[in-house]
Amino acid sequence: MSDPVDERLVDTLRSARNVVALTGAGVSAESGIATFRDDETGLWSRFSIEEFGSPEGFARQPGRVWEWYVERRDAMLRARPNPAHLALARLERHVASLTVITQNIDGLHQRAGSTRVLELHGSIRTVRCGAADHGPFAWPEGRALAHCPVCGAPLRPNVVWFGERLDSGRIQAADRAAQECDVLLAIGTSGLVAPAATFPMTARAHGARLVDINPVATPLSRHARHVLRGPAGELLPPVVAAAWPD
Ligand code: OAD
Repeated sequence: MSDPVDERLVDTLRSARNVVALTGAGVSAESGIATFRDDETGLWSRFSIEEFGSPEGFARQPGRVWEWYVERRDAMLRARPNPAHLALARLERHVASLTVITQNIDGLHQRAGSTRVLELHGSIRTVRCGAADHGPFAWPEGRALAHCPVCGAPLRPNVVWFGERLDSGRIQAADRAAQECDVLLAIGTSGLVAPAATFPMTARAHGARLVDINPVATPLSRHARHVLRGPAGELLPPVVAAAWPD
């Protein structure tokens, strides 16, 4: 038998007007997409950040980095939204506003039906010029490294790498949503990468309740009003269903 749903959390959600879901790689783990920092399975446990997650790595070996992203993209396009993504899309229909602030590049929130999604770290669906501010462009045909239609430099995935600036409009929108929300759900993020990791504290400083959904404790956990310790795809859907049975 599954654990009983936390009625206090159900009440918290039911009485919320503005909700933010801050999501990380863990929300897509049950769709079969690897996280970054989990021991053994995490991407950054198996591959070097300098090589595959930095502009310097791309400048050194654009073809090798491109191939790595082509494979990750294949996996992301094959993946399907899981019950956690679907529960967030369902939650959006019941509250005045739900903003999903995601660090993920896989597009699974949008495919599940969420309409207000701020992709802080970019998207695997598009590419841009690796040398200048050209693009974004649609992902090119084929698997080989392609070149910028404007200047001929190698194209790169439209994602953010370490040491790069995030889109300031998106950061501002995320910060505003965090300030204005009554409830922030932190789902499947290790809470180690800024600025994403700062939004829960912003929300809390403005009076919001934090909900931590993760199989393990993170630096955010001790600030959380409600803690769901386990996989998001198993623990979030029953809470939303209990709040709005339909
Ligand atoms: P991490 O890999 O750092 O953390 C994933 C979190 O998900 C961990 O805390 C896991 O315990 C948790 N988790 C695993 N399975 C889960 C499940 N089924 N349900 C809920 N939680 C689960 O990923 P992020 O926090 O997203 O940035 O990492 C942040 C950023 O660091 C990424 O966007 C990426 C990375 O370097 C860039 O590439 C710029």
